Amino acid sequence: MHFTRKVTQYLTWVGADDRRLACFEGVYGVPDGVSYNSYLLQDEKTVLFDTVDKAVYQIFFENLSSALAGRKLDYLVISHMEPDHAYTIEALLTRYPEVTIVCNSKIQAMLGQFFDLDFTGKLQLVKEGDVFSSGKHSFTFVMAPMVHWPEVMMTYDLTDKLLFSADAFGTFGSLNGRLFADEGDFFGENLDEARRYYTNIVGKYGAQVQAVLKKAAKLELDYVCPLHGPVWRSHFGDFLEKYLLWSSYTPEEKSVCLAYASVYGHTENAANILAGKLVERGVKVRMFDTSVTPASYIVANAFRCSHLVFASTTYNAGIFVTMENLIHDLVNHNLQNRAVVLMENGSWAPTSGKLMREALSSLKGVRFLNDTVTIKSALKEDQLAQLDAVADAIASELVPVQPAAAESSLSTAEPSGPLPVDDKAFRKMTYGVQVLTTCADGKDYGCIINTAVQVASGNPKKLSISVIRKNNTCDMLLKAGKFNISILTEDAPYSIFELFGLQSGREVDKFARYPGDDRLSNGIRYIPEYTNAVLACEVIETKDLGLSMLFIANVVESKVLSSGKSCSYDYYHAHIKPKKNPAPEQKEGYVCKVCGYFHEGSDLPDDFTCPLCKHGKEDFEYVAPAGKKKQKGYVCTICGYFEPCEGELPDDFTCPLCNHGKEDFEPAEQ
Ligand code: FEO
Repeated sequence: MHFTRKVTQYLTWVGADDRRLACFEGVYGVPDGVSYNSYLLQDEKTVLFDTVDKAVYQIFFENLSSALAGRKLDYLVISHMEPDHAYTIEALLTRYPEVTIVCNSKIQAMLGQFFDLDFTGKLQLVKEGDVFSSGKHSFTFVMAPMVHWPEVMMTYDLTDKLLFSADAFGTFGSLNGRLFADEGDFFGENLDEARRYYTNIVGKYGAQVQAVLKKAAKLELDYVCPLHGPVWRSHFGDFLEKYLLWSSYTPEEKSVCLAYASVYGHTENAANILAGKLVERGVKVRMFDTSVTPASYIVANAFRCSHLVFASTTYNAGIFVTMENLIHDLVNHNLQNRAVVLMENGSWAPTSGKLMREALSSLKGVRFLNDTVTIKSALKEDQLAQLDAVADAIASELVPVQPAAAESSLSTAEPSGPLPVDDKAFRKMTYGVQVLTTCADGKDYGCIINTAVQVASGNPKKLSISVIRKNNTCDMLLKAGKFNISILTEDAPYSIFELFGLQSGREVDKFARYPGDDRLSNGIRYIPEYTNAVLACEVIETKDLGLSMLFIANVVESKVLSSGKSCSYDYYHAHIKPKKNPAPEQKEGYVCKVCGYFHEGSDLPDDFTCPLCKHGKEDFEYVAPAGKKKQKGYVCTICGYFEPCEGELPDDFTCPLCNHGKEDFEPAEQ
């Protein structure tokens, strides 16, 4: 019986879980299984994105047949030729002989290597930036060499802002019915396996991952669909932050990964004593016996921790076998930028320390904190001072020095009159984010606010809102005298905030996204998705506050729509608003704000249209070349608009994009 799930209205997950696999790639234990993801798009043409491993081919074909619902399969897009995704291609061609394969030339070469099939006339070759259409959806292609093989490419759906990311952003572990990362506690339950997947599968290729992340940073992402693990439709920025750390070999935490190899327990004893001394000094320690814990788990923790301690007995005049395997794996995975402490044991000729040092010295940014601690059979009392010195050296780098009491400004500061009003203090207050909607002269209006507050209980309950006066919605609300408040939830994607917060109703139909025409009995629309409640209100009083207009209103109708957690203004900034990624080496040119296409050059002709998404010159913004002198000014913390300004912004300044006032700007250089 088929088992599929919808990703979007048009896209269906047709993959499968494998919980019987002992070792992924023959090396990495997967006690929680693994998923092989494949996705079917039903548009004017049908498009399958990758196939699956042979282990799950039967359920995959049931899923595909069910999702196709009698239609023929028009296209197969291949992202990656590793057999965990490509094994089933031959069987697919037998069942769907009319399918056209969309791939790049490196994939074409590998198809010939893996399969004794004649692909003549069956391939449509694409390269970086090409555009492919399936009808309502247009796609462009992003080459991602070495993430994880050289032929890998990602596919970006320009219509649904959805990235098929191949192995990137994948995770070990079966889906267990949970398709989306936000359908469970990903960061509590799955992050360790995501880290183990990344570091062991693509950890070696940090530079290539960084290159792809810089390309991806230009894309607007509502969905990310990897080949393993859950689909991302919210909170992706938090996962992306981890990728930025892992791929740049930056530790996630200031802590120690302590791995030891011990035959009869004496090396283990020394490792335990050092761990105790570290913990007594306030250092966090993650400790592993290399004979018990598979190397892939320790590799993942070595990527996580800032400091590494390796303690190994000597065996056959070398490093003990399980430690040797671990060191070999770390070198092969190209770990960088770590502080290392070494301990060796040997009853007659200890050599493991020297050999570990030689192997790890080849890694960029690795520094050794000590001369190797040498144990002859068992640690002796007079060696404890050596371990104290090691623990002190590590703690001095990891444990923050407490400020002396006399330096505390709280204890000694003399009162010196009122402090200036610090705008940042207002961000510490708890605000929710809502969509305010109204209707005037037969037209619907809406904007994002973070100002709805219940100001009176009783019957009727009352609430207040304030709206920026320059917003079109404010004028229409004054006219209509009534409005709805849709309370947004934490899973709301950034596109909702863009739609209602950064665009004007004078220029776009903000409700085109919602063909359902959902209205309360007052005839005003509300937002049916990513919303947990809606309230209908009638204005009873207004007050002009200068830049904003205050409305006090009776609540005349309300209903709960979902159990989703309300999104706070702070949560929006921390988890939904896209983070700025490290800027790539930048040439002078113009970047398309819609799809990220970059046009190099100092001029952009008036009739220029984006070759990817067809938007015109007005949707491009100038990008200065690297090294160009930075300009002082202020950036809008709401929408990112930059206003060049040498001195202070005028008090009545408002953002030309989102109409927020001077209080929402902070100094910046661009
Ligand atoms: Fe999941 Fe590189 O294959």
